[in-house]
Order: sequence, then C-alpha cells, then structure tokens
Amino acid sequence: MRIKINESQELFDQAAAKVIADCIRKKPAATIGLATGHTPKGMYEALVQLYQDNQVDFSMVKVLNLDEYLGVDLNNPGTCMSYLTERFYKHVNLSKSNIHFFNSEADDYEEECRRYDRHIEMVGGIDLLILGIGYNGHLGFNEPGTKFDTTVHVEKLTDITRTANTWSFGEKDKVPTHGITLGMKNIMHAGKLMLMVNGKKKAGILHEAIYGEVTEALPASVVQLHNDLVLVVDADAAAEIDNIGK
Ligand code: GLP
Repeated sequence: MRIKINESQELFDQAAAKVIADCIRKKPAATIGLATGHTPKGMYEALVQLYQDNQVDFSMVKVLNLDEYLGVDLNNPGTCMSYLTERFYKHVNLSKSNIHFFNSEADDYEEECRRYDRHIEMVGGIDLLILGIGYNGHLGFNEPGTKFDTTVHVEKLTDITRTANTWSFGEKDKVPTHGITLGMKNIMHAGKLMLMVNGKKKAGILHEAIYGEVTEALPASVVQLHNDLVLVVDADAAAEIDNIGK
C-alpha cells in the first residue's frame, strides 16, 4: 500500500488527479473506473485542468462508472452519470463510445448486471479504479455484508448511505432505495486501486478499514488484500494513520 497524505484540499485533489494522469501516460488506452461523491469533486476539476494544460490526453481512454442509482432517469441531476458528465466527461476529449455507464432504468436489472460484467471482460479488465469510502465502510454501493465474491449486482441502499447522499437529490425521500454497482470481485480484479478519503469524519472508518480485520462487514477492508493500492488522503482523514509517508 502506498499512502499519500496531503496537507490541503488542493494538494489532495492534485495528488489524486496525478495518479490518473500517470496511468494514462503509461497506458494511453487505459480503462479507468470512476467514483462519485463529495470526495473526488476537486479531483475531477484538477483532471480537467490537466487536460486544458495539455498534460493528459483522453482520446483513447475508456471509462466506466463505478455505480449508479436505480429507477431514476439518467438525466436526473442526482445520478452518478449526471455527476460525471457535468464535472468531467463533457470537459475532456473522451470519445463518447468509450464512456460506459449503467442503464438506470433497464427492464431487466439482472441482464444489465451481466452486460456490465461482459463489458469489463471485453475491454480486458479495469486498469485503475477510483474509489471513495462510505461512512459505513461501503465501496461503490457495496454495503456492509456484501460477499467478497460478488460481481456487478443490485444493492438495497442502507439508511446511512441514503442520508449521506441526500445532497444529490435534494431530499432524502428522493434518494433511490437501490443502486447497481461493481461488485467486490470486480473491485479486487482491477489492476490498481486508488482509494480517496478526506475529512475528519472519515478518519475512524479509514483506520478500521486499513488496520482492522478484513471482513465482509466492512467492505473497504478488502483493499488490504489488493497488491497495488494507492491511498490518497488529507491530513484530517489521516489523523489515525500512523505510518506516514511513502
Ligand atoms: C457514495 C458512492 C460511492 C462514494 C461514496 C463516498 O454512496 N456510491 O461511490 O465513493 O459513497 O461518498 P462521499 O465522497 O460523498 O463521502
């Protein structure tokens, strides 16, 4: 595990954007999985800036969304697709055909899951997967208790998650009850993981995830078993991490 601790929000955003840019420089046609949430907002801004400064070229890059809410129109501003489109996709030179996303209103969700799994296989796997962590230790929409051998699947969202994500839909009651997500197995099969964590409120769960028992009760603990994990944190989230540096 490599840990990058950043003293300011700006440095946190830039450090995370650099991990993505470095991956693309190494492999211009890389496949990158992308998370949403408060945590990576500034990272996407930093990435757009790198693109505008001609520091990174997305023309051959393939992206896929990590997760999505179910039962809402994809154009709803609360969806992960809207988030990524508004903050990232529409500002860079990604080819439309290289943006892979969930159909949030599929007639058959089981088939939609299999379609997504097949896509990952077809592109040769995910080279770099960006992750955040939920207050309950979720990854993507893999809520506590999700089996480590799951592939793409539908999850019932916990109350904690729906409350935390109220900001996306304005009111908690409007936050969908279910999500579709890469599974724990998809996550572990990614070539490289970047886990981004910031803010004091995440310090406890982060510490538990990286130093505690690896257990399905705390999905993010699985990252301990990945052999290429970069953890990008800010000083607040790192408050309980003792082995600084590297
Ligand atoms: C959300 C998303 C995750 C995200 C996580 C953390 O529910 N499904 O992909 O990484 O929770 O979100 P935030 O950064 O807002 O704390």
